[in-house]
Amino acid sequence: MTRIFLLGATGYIGGEVLHALQHAHPDYEIAALVRSAEKAGRVVAAYPRVRVVSGDLDNTSLVEEEARRSDVVIHAASNKHIGSVEAIARALKGRRDAYYIQVTGASVLGGPEIDASAYGEASDKVYDDLDGAQAVRDLILAYPNRRVVDNFILKLAGSGPKTAIIFPPIIFGAGSGPGNQRSIQVPSIAKNALKDKQAAYVGQGLSRWGAIHVADLAQLFVKLVEKAAEGGNGDIWDESGLYFAESGEMSFRDIASLVANEVYKLGFTEKPDATRSITAEECDRLFFAHGAVVLGTNARGRALRARKLLGWQPVKGALEDYISETVAAEAKQFDSL
Ligand SMILES: NC(=O)c1ccc[n+]([C@@H]2O[C@H](COP(=O)([O-])OP(=O)(O)OC[C@H]3O[C@@H](n4cnc5c(N)ncnc54)[C@H](OP(=O)(O)O)[C@@H]3O)[C@@H](O)[C@H]2O)c1
Repeated sequence: MTRIFLLGATGYIGGEVLHALQHAHPDYEIAALVRSAEKAGRVVAAYPRVRVVSGDLDNTSLVEEEARRSDVVIHAASNKHIGSVEAIARALKGRRDAYYIQVTGASVLGGPEIDASAYGEASDKVYDDLDGAQAVRDLILAYPNRRVVDNFILKLAGSGPKTAIIFPPIIFGAGSGPGNQRSIQVPSIAKNALKDKQAAYVGQGLSRWGAIHVADLAQLFVKLVEKAAEGGNGDIWDESGLYFAESGEMSFRDIASLVANEVYKLGFTEKPDATRSITAEECDRLFFAHGAVVLGTNARGRALRARKLLGWQPVKGALEDYISETVAAEAKQFDSL
């Protein structure tokens, strides 16, 4: 019996992971950290076999205790909450039979552009997580303050649980989990375009990010958990356990154009290609704090490791196939305001 402790089960990513794990392996024992009674009710209603652990990430002794009781910990609640990450590491210290999978983010690849305040610019730098994994590790190590969780987990390698870090790029598609089912980047571009009657991109809009459907991303977690359940070793974990996930990539200008077209088709604008360039500062103001980091850098990471070593294959298609449904979902919310 594989015992899993899942943090973030009511989130977009964690909810999808819960959904995928329950469908693929109803025999796995899943405990989920949930911080509100209302959301706990939703989790249990959708997945009666899940054991809810009521608490917050800040309750590190609870996180530690639950992690200690599990074979696999999946932290999909936050890529910044170092206290909970340290608690998991304490719980699994020296346990080479345990596994720890952490979600962080592909913005790690934009580090040098953030340093140079270079947003919206093209880059031909493409990383990969297989033969090119050392360049990714070097990038993580170059940013000990910005990438605290990534650095902490890299340093665990070999001494504690077997680890894997997943770096999602743009995630698209409606989620299937019991809580949040909405992503961040493209829905935000769509929401803003509906409001401003123009879809925004940063600078020249030439920077590109990889993209993955949320269900395909969840399958990567499932593959890793299956490897963990088999007691897998090899090039899957620890310093080798760095995973990109993508089914293609797009520039933000192209995303804005497709969004603008859909906004037009829905009757919100009079022109089919109403787009505009904004500065990085405007992006942070219009969207959210550090918006330019996730809407204006390059995060071009080929997901070769999961394809080769886990037999993972995205099947849900590319971001461009989902722009229309994303804009329609945002328009529905917009109409009801
Ligand atoms: N979505 C993306 O496109 C994307 C891409 C790359 C990386 N990421 C990163 O991946 C992580 C998860 O993203 P997401 O989109 O799934 O976020 P989300 O939908 O906001 O979900 C976050 C989950 O973590 C839980 N959580 C957050 N803070 C908590 C706390 N203090 N105590 C207990 N539970 C807590 C939330 O619980 P509640 O339901 O109670 O709020 C929810 O279950 C984030 O760090 C995000 O930056 C996201």
